[in-house]
Amino acid sequence: IEKTFLMVKPDGVERQVIGDIMDRFERRGFELKGAKLMNVSRELAEKHYAEHSERPFFGELVDFITSGPVFAMVWEGESVISLARIMIGATKPSESQPGTIRGDYAVTVSHNVIHGSDSLASAEREIELWFDGELV
Ligand code: GTP
Ligand code: MG
Repeated sequence: IEKTFLMVKPDGVERQVIGDIMDRFERRGFELKGAKLMNVSRELAEKHYAEHSERPFFGELVDFITSGPVFAMVWEGESVISLARIMIGATKPSESQPGTIRGDYAVTVSHNVIHGSDSLASAEREIELWFDGELV
């Protein structure tokens, strides 16, 4: 059975949509394995988004993720990695469908409410990075 790493970004915490987001994953049938509200160091943000370190928006991305508390979570369930990405919606606002989290809450590519692991390898790496040994 799979686990994935999800994170409500500072804009989502600020807008008080943590409850709605958790409700969506609970209703779908996924199981919460860990959660914490936390401030993110630059070091952690840079490690988390290391794959984007050469992109022109990397500095902005790290500034944003460290700009306020995030709500980090691990969820477990059948195909949770890919299903959570579908529930989150597309990265580009012009492609994120209503009914998805981004499609319901976000209009900019940079402030898009939530992160979700994009593969099994990413999920394993991110769970270890954010929740090393802390899961129930
Ligand atoms: P995450 O779940 O946050 O990893 O988003 P994603 O997997 O849908 O997209 P991706 O990993 O490709 O990009 C990571 C994050 O970088 C996105 O969530 C965006 O917030 C940000 N990002 C992507 N493209 C751009 C861009 O062109 N400009 C800016 N400012 N941010 C971008
Ligand atoms: Mg990504």
